[in-house]
Amino acid sequence: MTTRYDAARAEIQASPRTWLVTGCAGFIGSNLLEALLGLDQTVVGLDNFATGYQHNLDEVQRLVTPQQWARFRFIEGDIRDIDTCHHAVEGVRHVLHQAALGSVPRSLKDPMTTNAVNVGGQLNMLVAARDARVQSFVYAASSSTYGDHPGLPKVEDQIGKPLSPYAVTKLVNELYADVFARAYDFRAIGLRYFNVFGKRQDPDGAYAAVIPKWVSSMIRDQEVVINGDGETSRDFCYIQNVVQANLLASMAGSEGVNQVYNVAFNARTSLNQLFGYLRDILGRNGVGYARTPRYADFRAGDVRHSQADVSKARELLGYEPQFDILHGLELAMPWYIQFLR
Ligand SMILES: NC(=O)c1ccc[n+]([C@@H]2O[C@H](COP(=O)([O-])OP(=O)(O)OC[C@H]3O[C@@H](n4cnc5c(N)ncnc54)[C@H](O)[C@@H]3O)[C@@H](O)[C@H]2O)c1
Repeated sequence: MTTRYDAARAEIQASPRTWLVTGCAGFIGSNLLEALLGLDQTVVGLDNFATGYQHNLDEVQRLVTPQQWARFRFIEGDIRDIDTCHHAVEGVRHVLHQAALGSVPRSLKDPMTTNAVNVGGQLNMLVAARDARVQSFVYAASSSTYGDHPGLPKVEDQIGKPLSPYAVTKLVNELYADVFARAYDFRAIGLRYFNVFGKRQDPDGAYAAVIPKWVSSMIRDQEVVINGDGETSRDFCYIQNVVQANLLASMAGSEGVNQVYNVAFNARTSLNQLFGYLRDILGRNGVGYARTPRYADFRAGDVRHSQADVSKARELLGYEPQFDILHGLELAMPWYIQFLR
């Protein structure tokens, strides 16, 4: 059976277009870049390497053909600079805006930089994309927008108060996109990602996400620290589901635009379960880990449970997440083992 995702990819490939991926040297951006080049698209990438890496771009180059790579143009620049944003959107039809400073703890430590990049940078991108009359502007929103709302699973129109400066910036992103849609006849779609994981997600540094952080500790036979009692839960979403959502959103008809959507799998995994999954999958890949985790304090700004209702994206975009957490971890693990050994 042909899915809407199959149809969208076929349409994109049959009539190639020019895309801008901001944050293309990061985890999600580099996976979007790889997918678009694989569909023979022309891609402009913008990144300032704040948290992204040249080695991510080099890896994409190795994974596509020389002809596909020749359709990529990289701009090293900062979204806080409006001239850079205007330059980046020239001739672009679809924008996938991923550049931002992620991490709740980073935003608690340095709220001003997080705000300048995530809010000021996105506003620059909106202005530049509006002026260039792009066809669609899809941007990375976040599950952190649900804040202290207790409802589960999370439904798009029921949000609580943000619990961190990072969450504030992601909520403001949605407000600005909505205002641009109304005021300037602009087509924007926000994708509220829920704990995305997969290859090229940075395992190092103080602000690494839980899966790459634990996998790297386990491969290096270091201690794994669980914040809280381990019953905190998340809707972990494999990167290929996120790629699907971005392509579907970019191709959405009028019924699907000017909306925000949950992008997740619609399952809940506790940190204790996650630890067990990682230990088992690493073991099957020849990496034994015999230590038990150490339990530490709960982390400030974290929500306790998270799980997405994805029926809105399913109905309006045709989103059908193809990879659950176990399938995604199986696919991602060889990359981590190769990268970290
Ligand atoms: N990974 C997740 O689980 C998750 C969840 C919710 C939302 N998001 C959002 O998805 C997007 C991508 O996240 P990611 O996980 O790939 O993070 P990442 O840190 O790997 O990628 C972000 C990229 O943006 C670039 N960047 C940062 N500041 C910039 C600036 N001023 N100018 C130009 N480029 C800049 C970085 O160098 C990096 O390459 C972000 O907007 C993030 O907030 C991610």
